[in-house]
Amino acid sequence: MVAAMDEQRGIGYKNMIPWKIKEDLVRFRDLTVGKTVIFGRKTYESLLGYYQRSGKAMPKRKTVVVSRTAHQKEGETYFVSSFEEALKLARKIEPEEVFVSGGAQIFNLGIDYAQKLYLTVVKGKYRADTFFPDYSKFKIVKKEDRSNEKHSYSFLEMVRKQASKEFPIEK
Ligand SMILES: NC(=O)c1ccc[n+]([C@@H]2O[C@H](COP(=O)([O-])OP(=O)(O)OC[C@H]3O[C@@H](n4cnc5c(N)ncnc54)[C@H](OP(=O)(O)O)[C@@H]3O)[C@@H](O)[C@H]2O)c1
Repeated sequence: MVAAMDEQRGIGYKNMIPWKIKEDLVRFRDLTVGKTVIFGRKTYESLLGYYQRSGKAMPKRKTVVVSRTAHQKEGETYFVSSFEEALKLARKIEPEEVFVSGGAQIFNLGIDYAQKLYLTVVKGKYRADTFFPDYSKFKIVKKEDRSNEKHSYSFLEMVRKQASKEFPIEK
């Protein structure tokens, strides 16, 4: 999973990310370029706004969107109706490493399957209406403290202390 959160695990407000940290977007891009990324439908729609000019949610990435309402395929974007289906499809497209990148509903569905977390923890408390789930079952294996003129934040890599829920695979 890849997520950016504040010190209270806040990740979003009114369908937007509450801060703008360019380095964090660069890290997200570097981690996920050429890979397959799973999003919830609301996050996908908010990304369409960010990437409006290219007309794709995420250039140079395959996107799997979890939605009960939208099902058509658009270019390199696939719509599926459950999180397990998203995992199976993403794993089929990209057997090595599948990324789950929110929002809150999708992080909640995915946290028990996750093997690794790439987190950005932004210092401070922001107004938020969506939150990352409890991640106390993970331990830090790498930490880099960063700052810019407005924000202090840490890039964390975390792995599970115990085995994850079994990953669904296509039989
Ligand atoms: N800081 C970060 O790292 C980060 C990353 C991503 C997103 N965000 C923020 O997170 C917020 C959005 O999160 P959110 O929780 O409101 O929405 P979300 O997880 O992006 O999407 C929710 C949608 O996913 C679909 N869904 C959820 N559970 C499902 C299930 N069991 N089966 C099938 N479909 C399911 C539904 O789509 P339908 O309604 O179409 O059925 C639901 O409305 C925004 O503020 C965004 O900016 C932050």
